[in-house]
Amino acid sequence: MAEIEKDAISGRETTGHEWDGIKELNTPLPRWWLYTFYVSIIWSIGYWIVYPAWPTLSGYTEGVIGYSSRAELTKELEARDESRMVWTDKFSALSVEEISKDSELLNYAMAGGRAIFAENCAPCHGASGSGISSYPVLADDDWLWGGAVGDIYTTISYGIRSTHDDARLGEMPNFGDDMLSGSQISDVAEYVLSLSGGATDNTSAERGTEVFAEECAGCHGENGEGMQSMGAPRLSDGIWIYGKSKQNIMSQIGAPKHGVMPAWVDRLDDVSIKQVSVYVHSLGGGQ
Ligand code: HEC
Ligand code: HEC
Repeated sequence: MAEIEKDAISGRETTGHEWDGIKELNTPLPRWWLYTFYVSIIWSIGYWIVYPAWPTLSGYTEGVIGYSSRAELTKELEARDESRMVWTDKFSALSVEEISKDSELLNYAMAGGRAIFAENCAPCHGASGSGISSYPVLADDDWLWGGAVGDIYTTISYGIRSTHDDARLGEMPNFGDDMLSGSQISDVAEYVLSLSGGATDNTSAERGTEVFAEECAGCHGENGEGMQSMGAPRLSDGIWIYGKSKQNIMSQIGAPKHGVMPAWVDRLDDVSIKQVSVYVHSLGGGQ
């Protein structure tokens, strides 16, 4: 062992190592550093004892308090399911009318309904029910089949002209099949346009009045106000599913289109249908 020797210039101890006349000074670790180091060793031993730490051949050391992040997660999930159950039970037991009158349930339905709508309905009805050409807008107060929350619930559950037995049904006859002549179709289209102030030929519209009263009023109402039991749209409001031009209206009379909306009873559970009904009802024009 080399004798401890002081460096002549700095006056500090050297380690006794020497290379080609260069000696290494002995610079001990600072005390605060050493103590922190010892404390962290003691801390880690404590940690190994208390918490799961070391892998073993068949698993791991579990620690005396038996903590497991998975158990923690399971506990959180159970708590969440339990709070959700409370909601689900209420939603199953109550009608959509009752749900939309209870502000707490309404909030919950809105949050869930918005997500369900975005996923299932937006492809046909547009984001937030803003409508796409040939599909009705849901965010207005013009309803084909009724805008009360109960009507909406029925529509969503069973669909419109869907394959479900309880679907809403209503067909517009094809007036192009020898029922009306070309000029009658043109006249009645002008009359329909006049109901929302869009006619360009008043004499033609005048001639269409009679045809409308005979052929159309039975479904669309005497003044074109619509009839929800038939799903016949209001024609006097300037809101159109199939377009507002005279050409669009003439083709609906001469070769009618019929929208199909799928039934959701077999695809969504009742709680989800109730939530999305309340959401649609709130979009703007709920009655
Ligand atoms: C495949 C396209 C399609 C999908 C998906 C769809 N719908 Fe529809 N929906 C329609 C069509 C088409 C109509 C209009 C039918 C008609 O002309 O009577 C309609 C009508 C409606 C109506 C009646 C509107 C009124 O004025 O009375 C409601 C309410 C409605 N849909 C809600 C929904 C909800 C909620 C969803 C999602 C769970 C949904 N729809 C998904 C096509 C769709
Ligand atoms: C048996 C009932 C019935 C009769 C009669 C009927 N319609 Fe319709 N009409 C409907 C239904 C139902 C729709 C909705 C189709 C849909 O939702 O897809 C409709 C839709 C329309 C539309 C499209 C509205 C829009 O928003 O785009 C026009 C226009 C129209 N009818 C005009 C007429 C005219 C004009 C007559 C008479 C010549 C007539 N209808 C007779 C049931 C009827």
